[in-house]
Amino acid sequence: MIGVGHFISQRQDYETSIERSYQAEMAARVQIAQGDDSKAARRTIAAEEARRAELRDSISDDTRNTAILVGIGLIAGLIGALLLFAGLITAMRRPLEALVDAAGRLAAGDRSTRVEVGGLSETATLGKAFNDMAAELELEASERDQLDRMKDEFVLTASHELRSPLTSVQGFAELLMMERDSLTQRQVETVEIILDNCRHLVRLLNDLLDLARSDAGRLAIRPRPTRLGPLIEDVVRTLRAQTEASEQTLTEKIDANLPLVEVEPDRIRQILVNLVTNAHEYSPKRASIEVTARVTDAEVEIDVIDDGPGIPPAQMEHIFERFVRGDAGLTQRVGGTGLGLAISKSLVELHGGTISVDSEVGRGSTFKVLLPVAPPGAVEAPPSGPRAIAEGPR
Ligand SMILES: Nc1ncnc2c1ncn2[C@@H]1O[C@H](COP(=O)(O)OP(=O)(O)OP(=O)(O)O)[C@@H](O)[C@H]1O
Ligand SMILES: [Mg+2]
Repeated sequence: MIGVGHFISQRQDYETSIERSYQAEMAARVQIAQGDDSKAARRTIAAEEARRAELRDSISDDTRNTAILVGIGLIAGLIGALLLFAGLITAMRRPLEALVDAAGRLAAGDRSTRVEVGGLSETATLGKAFNDMAAELELEASERDQLDRMKDEFVLTASHELRSPLTSVQGFAELLMMERDSLTQRQVETVEIILDNCRHLVRLLNDLLDLARSDAGRLAIRPRPTRLGPLIEDVVRTLRAQTEASEQTLTEKIDANLPLVEVEPDRIRQILVNLVTNAHEYSPKRASIEVTARVTDAEVEIDVIDDGPGIPPAQMEHIFERFVRGDAGLTQRVGGTGLGLAISKSLVELHGGTISVDSEVGRGSTFKVLLPVAPPGAVEAPPSGPRAIAEGPR
């Protein structure tokens, strides 16, 4: 800037000097034109011409020097700006990278994640805003977790407390039925209704208890090497009376060389009862239901196949979710809560297995359960005693 100011003032001096030089030369020329062709006038003209040439040389030197100076100044300014810019980028990059990193951790569920607040005021403000948001999310999550825990506890306690008196009502109703000969027909019918409702409620409470335990991570299983064949035959035998009442055929096809599976037998029975009961309840009269079991790689595959109404694709997507029931007329006629498949899925997964469904409307459904084979050399454990009525199969 000083160089440029100096150049401008020099330029003004130069122009004034040139002007004065022209004026002096003009005055000499006027003298000559008026007839005074003196040596002095001619010397003045020559001197002024020489002075102007000198002035031109000096101003062109000055112009060059000033241009060089301005060029150097511009380059220095540019380098300075670049250095400043690079410094700014470095100062912002580290906190921004830390923020991106922390945001990733927060999105992955680590709500305790925070960033170090520092650096430029903008990044510091951003860091503080991030930390405030993370703290709020952490608080909300812990409140939600606490509410969830309270809900689980409530369902657990309520189902448990309700089940005890209910099972005693069921027990007394069963005792009464044993004395049915001394009851009137109307009394027998009444006790049967009481029993039916008790069984339905006990089943519902057992389902709710299982789901609440599963949510609380307290649904434990005690797997042991088990033979599936007798278990499947037992389920088929238990449910045959119901299928026969609907003139349905219920058959089983079990591979002879089925290996032992690592499962809790009562829980597998519960799953199979759910699946066969569904096949029976949602299929029409004279439908056929088949339970098959065979070995595939390191798993045993159990299929429950029916040629009933099938399941529409839209319902199939959500069929293992809680309280999901079909809206077809048949489903609506069958009483149910939409919990059986959700519980079956939780139980199968607790065993390290999988459950899936394949179905076509009008042709039937196949529910497929895969269970892990017991380790080589495993020996079948002796059967444990039957579950208490209250814990009994759904
Ligand atoms: N074999 C099947 N054929 C046709 N629809 C089925 C079959 N199995 C299940 N479904 C459909 O899936 C829905 C969910 O079944 P799920 O067993 O979970 O509940 P639910 O039978 O309605 O009630 P519950 O809790 O008493 O078992 C049923 O309501 C029915 O619409
Ligand atoms: Mg069901």
